[in-house]
Amino acid sequence: MAKNIVVVGTQWGDEGKGKIIDWLAPDTHAVVRFHGGHNAGHTLVINGHKTILRLIPSGILHPHIQCYLGNGVVVSPSALLEEMDALEATGVDVQSRMHISYACPMLMPYHVAIDQARERAKGAGKIGTTGRGIGPVYEDKVARRGLRLQDLFDLSVLEEKLKETLEYHNFVLTQYFKEPAIELGSLMEAALKHQQRLTPLLKDVSAQLHDAYHAKKTLLFEGAQGALLDIDHGTYPFVTSSNCVAGYASPGTGMPPQSLHYVLGIAKAYSTRVGSGPYPTEQINETGDRLCERGHEFGSNTGRKRRCGWLDLPALKRSIELNGVNGLCITKLDVLDGFDSVKICIGYELDGQLLDRLPYSAQDATRCTPVYETIEGWQESTYGVCDWNALPSQAKAYLDYIEDRVGCPIDLVSTGPERHQTLVKRHPLRSI
Ligand code: GDP
Ligand code: IMO
Ligand code: MG
Repeated sequence: MAKNIVVVGTQWGDEGKGKIIDWLAPDTHAVVRFHGGHNAGHTLVINGHKTILRLIPSGILHPHIQCYLGNGVVVSPSALLEEMDALEATGVDVQSRMHISYACPMLMPYHVAIDQARERAKGAGKIGTTGRGIGPVYEDKVARRGLRLQDLFDLSVLEEKLKETLEYHNFVLTQYFKEPAIELGSLMEAALKHQQRLTPLLKDVSAQLHDAYHAKKTLLFEGAQGALLDIDHGTYPFVTSSNCVAGYASPGTGMPPQSLHYVLGIAKAYSTRVGSGPYPTEQINETGDRLCERGHEFGSNTGRKRRCGWLDLPALKRSIELNGVNGLCITKLDVLDGFDSVKICIGYELDGQLLDRLPYSAQDATRCTPVYETIEGWQESTYGVCDWNALPSQAKAYLDYIEDRVGCPIDLVSTGPERHQTLVKRHPLRSI
């Protein structure tokens, strides 16, 4: 059997998953998204050309790689087609390599309207969602009133289902949020276009992945967001609405847990967070500004400024446990170049106790006081360094410290946004 790999974010998203997946993809048969939707923004930089992917898997720039959306992914047909068209316009063949599960929940304009209306109504207490309708579409799935992409096959049945569901959503929109109703006619017009273009791509993804697996082909499962945004294990309610942890690659695609052989956890050498919610090591000061500026920390999806801070080991430890991380990839090491000293959070103080894991309660997480270890910085540039021995000794000491403290090997280090700016200590696919 081939050995499969799951790549997940271990922080609050934007760890550099897209870059690493694009780098790993040539050694695999297919890249498979298993949760989330177009709230994700995965950046690939090849020879200075930047591509931002929201729904399309990060293997798409390699012509021979197949790309799958598993049933756990929520799909906005209009967002997907827009993204496909933009890529096709740059000469990338997308259509023939996209395989989408029949069972993907279909994200509709009323989900977007509700997401945005709810955030407006919450005011200062808002979650800071991407406003893409992700929460409401997952709610519909769990409430068993949602539409799936397979409903595009028969538009008369779709219309009947839509009438019923619209009655409910328009009641919420107009009566509760005092927002305009969504018209059935406009949804049906769009559905006709979506039917023509999307139904040829709809497949029994679970069966196809099983067949590929039994033909000894390697699968790469692509996580979105990060474990600390997981609906169950993140800093609830300041989370996304899907499970982001590696284990969800199984229910999110229809592959068994035994087929997930190696979990690569991606972590920035520092940390960032977009949106509201607890963030113990956040630096609202010159350090935070410097990290933001050096790391270009503006959301690849919404353009929002990311909150920035030091690396948080109690949060990383929690994440390594939740995901079963076999190896870490530390990204954006180069952003720390030139600091006189670098801080690492090694625990929190809370009510006279020392904690070594991020607490579940958002209230407690907000009250945690980080305990830092200060490590000497390095003045040399690590930008683009691909050889461990060529790293400044203090940068190596920083990475060794992390490895020792969290008890998990660092297999890869990323030293720049370009595909080739990747340092391999132990290749994930050659070590399993
Ligand atoms: P993702 O959502 O986890 O795929 O991450 P994003 O693409 O949202 O954000 C990561 C950002 O950091 C992107 O702009 C990448 O091009 C960039 N990036 C990734 N790895 C590195 C790195 O090692 N160094 C630097 N300087 N930038 C990187
Ligand atoms: P990638 O895959 C960073 C955050 C939002 C908000 C919360 C809920 O690029 O790492 P949602 O729209 O999902 O209901 O928003 O989750 N969020 C992300 N933050 N990276 C992401 O994706 C994110 N996807 C959602 O900012 O705080
Ligand atoms: Mg991102």
